[in-house]
Amino acid sequence: VNKGWYRLYDSLYHPFLFRKGMNDMDVKDLFKDIKKYEGKDVTLEGWVRNNRNQSNFGFIDFNDGTYFKSLQLVYDKELKDFDTISKIRVGSAIRVKGTIVNSEGSGQSHEMKVKSVEVLGDSPEDYPIQPKRHTREFLREVAYLRPRTNLFNAVFRVRSVAAQAIHEYFQSNNYVYFHSPIITGADCEGSGEMFKLTTLDMNNLPLNEDKKVDFKKDLFGKQTYITGSGQLHAETFALAYKKVYTFGPTMRTENSNTKTHANEFWMIEPEVAFCDLEGIMNIEEEMLKYVVKYVLDKCPLEIDFFDKFVEKGLKEKLNKVINSKFVRITHKEAITLLKEAKVDFEFKPEYGEDIAKEHERYITEYFNGPVFITNWPKDIKAFYMKLNDDNETVAAVDLEVPGSGELIGGSQREDDYDKLIKRMEELNIPKDDLEWYTNLRRFGGCYHSGFGLGFERLIMYLTGIENIRDVIPYPRTPNNCDY
Ligand code: 4AD
Ligand code: MG
Repeated sequence: VNKGWYRLYDSLYHPFLFRKGMNDMDVKDLFKDIKKYEGKDVTLEGWVRNNRNQSNFGFIDFNDGTYFKSLQLVYDKELKDFDTISKIRVGSAIRVKGTIVNSEGSGQSHEMKVKSVEVLGDSPEDYPIQPKRHTREFLREVAYLRPRTNLFNAVFRVRSVAAQAIHEYFQSNNYVYFHSPIITGADCEGSGEMFKLTTLDMNNLPLNEDKKVDFKKDLFGKQTYITGSGQLHAETFALAYKKVYTFGPTMRTENSNTKTHANEFWMIEPEVAFCDLEGIMNIEEEMLKYVVKYVLDKCPLEIDFFDKFVEKGLKEKLNKVINSKFVRITHKEAITLLKEAKVDFEFKPEYGEDIAKEHERYITEYFNGPVFITNWPKDIKAFYMKLNDDNETVAAVDLEVPGSGELIGGSQREDDYDKLIKRMEELNIPKDDLEWYTNLRRFGGCYHSGFGLGFERLIMYLTGIENIRDVIPYPRTPNNCDY
């Protein structure tokens, strides 16, 4: 081969071949159809996960992020750049050209025989992500680099795929994707857990005659918040489209340092007209099975990895979920079960009271799978839930799953105008601000239901990851808002 001609060809045609301004070949494309590439030359761009060498040859674990598995690059002494290549450090960005060949080694079916390597971005000796096991705590401290590890690459791809699954489930079942406002005056969960939003000068607050902050002077002319739920607004659209869902960020001020709470999380909130409690449970169950199956189908390598290194038996658990019928018990039955348990709970289970984390765990382990708990005492639930005939409980349902605890919270909504108003008065909820919401009960109101699915808790359930901080790219939790 006349090397000079090759170089001329390269310099002449390179700009035309890569007109899009990028190398369009992904490792994912390569592995999708690897046989087709046997014996062919390809150019790839990505990062060095590891570089090991001996005097005559070396191996680079190459990963461009599009595929869970790394591609093994083999280079040998015959390359004139052998010494330079063998010194390329972990973390560097490179462009590599070479031939795809069958691999002689175990562990991979194919590898690339390197022809040339170009370093696009060097990385120092003390690059934090080295080819060894790092603790998750350490990786949280370098959150901007952790997607380059196997674990987090897998977690955040599953997160992306699960989001797509959710959209596909709802879109294919005639739902409209509804964007609820992020800035709002409406407190949905009614427990003062919303972040306040203001443009007022915090060091020089305008006061009214009562010496209280004068929010009339604020940008919106009143006190506003960042949303803690899109439900109330979703209800208005459900009473126009029949079926809607939201999928967006949700903020809450709760100062709870647990493995399942974050101050910023994503929530999916479907709202369905002409649907009762039984109906909404059926939707929850069908949707969850759809998402689990979708992720098992699209992320087999990732799930195998989690199964091996994060939660043993994960795959079996997920496969079982697809084929099982979820247990449905009332809150009363749940308390009876807990009282009869031969366990010394820290919090004694009581009828009429909430269920603690340890109780959730006992119940999901007892039934070994997801459990719906229905008909909760009205005093521990939100104002908008439908009062049952017993006047004591509401038509609410939580779905508890092993590991994540409460994955979904939902209810049938109070559609009786008078009962809703009475409940709001009892709980001191300002009626005037929510007139648009209560009016829904006057203008063609109907029985309707909805739920909220915590997206991070879903990802925890799908991956076996125990801490919410490891399934959200940049977690916001009490005393932690880095990056
Ligand atoms: O039970 P919650 O508070 O219900 C609502 O917000 C209703 N408006 C939903 C509805 O009916 N449309 O929250 C719903 C779910 C919980 O089950 C949980 O999965 C998740 O949201 N969640 C959190 N996830 C992470 N961090 C937090 N601080 C969370 N708070 C709730
Ligand atoms: Mg809840």
